[in-house]
Amino acid sequence: MAATSMDQLVSLCKRRGFIFQNADIYGGQQGVYDYGPLGVELKNNLKNAWWRAMVYERDDVEGLDAAILTNRKVLKYSGHEDTFSDPMCDCRKCKGRFRADHITDGKCPNCGSTDLTEPRPFNLMFKTQVGPVESDENLAYLRPETAQAIFTQFKNVVDATSRKLPFGIAQIGKSFRNEITPRNFIFRVREFEQAELEYFVLPGEDEKYHELWKEARINWWLEQGLVKEHMNIYTTPHDDLAHYAKACYDIEYQFPHGMEELEGIANRRDYDLGNHTKAQEEFDLEAHCHANPDSTTKLCIRDEENGKWVIPFVIEPSMGVDRGVLAVLTEAYTEEDLGEGNSRIVLKLKKHLAPIKVAIIPLKKNSEAIMQKCHELKNKLMKLGIGRVALENTGNIGKAYRRHDEVGTPLCLTVDFETLENTPESVTIRDRDTMQQQRVNTADLPSFLREYFL
Ligand code: GLY
Repeated sequence: MAATSMDQLVSLCKRRGFIFQNADIYGGQQGVYDYGPLGVELKNNLKNAWWRAMVYERDDVEGLDAAILTNRKVLKYSGHEDTFSDPMCDCRKCKGRFRADHITDGKCPNCGSTDLTEPRPFNLMFKTQVGPVESDENLAYLRPETAQAIFTQFKNVVDATSRKLPFGIAQIGKSFRNEITPRNFIFRVREFEQAELEYFVLPGEDEKYHELWKEARINWWLEQGLVKEHMNIYTTPHDDLAHYAKACYDIEYQFPHGMEELEGIANRRDYDLGNHTKAQEEFDLEAHCHANPDSTTKLCIRDEENGKWVIPFVIEPSMGVDRGVLAVLTEAYTEEDLGEGNSRIVLKLKKHLAPIKVAIIPLKKNSEAIMQKCHELKNKLMKLGIGRVALENTGNIGKAYRRHDEVGTPLCLTVDFETLENTPESVTIRDRDTMQQQRVNTADLPSFLREYFL
């Protein structure tokens, strides 16, 4: 089967209500997307799977949901004001602006002119103001990563939970980067969602935990349906590391546009906690931590072994949620030849990710008795806690199956005249992947579905 193309995904996403261009009716806003009725379910399911693995299934991680509006000082001392930039070149002919690393042969990617400026840094953070007065004092940023609030709230979380090293703080939320050339659908966008864990460890144990998290995160992606053959682990060369990092692995995925980063797993050492810490003599601060006259707090914890205060090192698995959605869609998208000129598109999503778990389909929508039974079943089955159970109301069974194959619904449950007439009462259940059908007694549906989904 041919590899999934971006066009196939974009078309499916629009047609079936997964993802729409933002401000579509005004010609669209570049690098900004909206998740539609099924996209929001898929994205929530992916985020829930992450939260379950990173918080609920562990005993050493707490959650956080911090604000997006970020105080300027946070991003000053994190180094983002000075260094969070891409080198850009301007084209003097067409006035376009491009990332220097996207320019080949010294030519403008838009008009081909060679009359380009020297590369200049362009800060990627969105600025805004807090309060009615526009001034330097009131300048704030939309956060460029969720991580910073985890660092600035470190002491509050430790005090509130009495955590000891090693432990982590997890957060999922929106971040913003004014990408110069957003592209490749939801891969490189200006408003996006991150799922980040900051895992704090004793200095000296960082390299061990960096390896452990790399393995844990690869395994998690396999559980989301990605296959090893489509993944690659890239070790960032020293010169390319982010300003805070000592080392970084990228989990890369074979997206339709190429093998690219899906998740970064960085060793951020004590860079952030150190730089946000009130400068004090008693700390043997690393050379990269500058004195911080604005912070009021020591972001440190006691080493259980020797009772000394220490600024922990941190390992950061940082996943792009939108990239995750794109990866699982790419992996799941399948065109199947059914023979005799028939084919189908089927989204072979893992069942925990499927936006709709069960579609209840009436064989005839103009039969009141069948519709009533469908409503009754829906009300009963949605209480099972398996996820979304949807009543499909097209009334054409062939079309309904096709639609639910395309959106990845694992099970279609059809209510027909036999359901009403036979004792015991039963329905047909059709499996998305095998297309096999079986009859199941309605009394057995709760246990059947619980076993299937939970
Ligand atoms: N927190 C890492 C990143 O946003 O790239």
